[in-house]
Amino acid sequence: MSAGNVILTGFMGSGKSTIGRILAKELNTYFIDTDNLIEYFENRSIKEIFEKEGEESFRKKERYCFEWIKNNVKNTVISVGGGFPVFIPEIKEAGVVIYLKVDFDDILKRMSEDEIAKRPLFQDIKKAKELFSKRDNIYRQLADYIIENRDIDGTIKKIKGIID
Ligand code: S3P
Repeated sequence: MSAGNVILTGFMGSGKSTIGRILAKELNTYFIDTDNLIEYFENRSIKEIFEKEGEESFRKKERYCFEWIKNNVKNTVISVGGGFPVFIPEIKEAGVVIYLKVDFDDILKRMSEDEIAKRPLFQDIKKAKELFSKRDNIYRQLADYIIENRDIDGTIKKIKGIID
């Protein structure tokens, strides 16, 4: 396993951070969420970065984050932002990539208004759905494994089965 990291990818609201946090705890290892890492490095929210500097600047920060992870992080569960693999297709260099797949309608049902408000690319539902359709293929292509994230326990069990 490359650097021993487990990387969770998937669309906004697919449960990457929730699953990642629980998985790391169960594996008794570290957890990193790239959005949180960027917010920590920058001392401001993703929403603010998008508003003040635009998406391109955010993608540069994701790239920096990727290089930092590749050089410094081992044996860690990492959840990445929804666009991360799209802009960093060499993501596998940092670990085993697992795509957590959830249907768009289920994502909509699961996400609270607060969670939607934090995500600049989820403000227009029609556009978000189009983005989802475009990205599904990319997530598939760049993943070592694809898991339907239906329920937390089932998903954790499946991931553990893969990395054992
Ligand atoms: C984005 C997803 C977000 C965050 C940013 C852009 C995207 O992360 O990185 O708002 O391009 O899909 P989550 O997938 O954790 O919501």
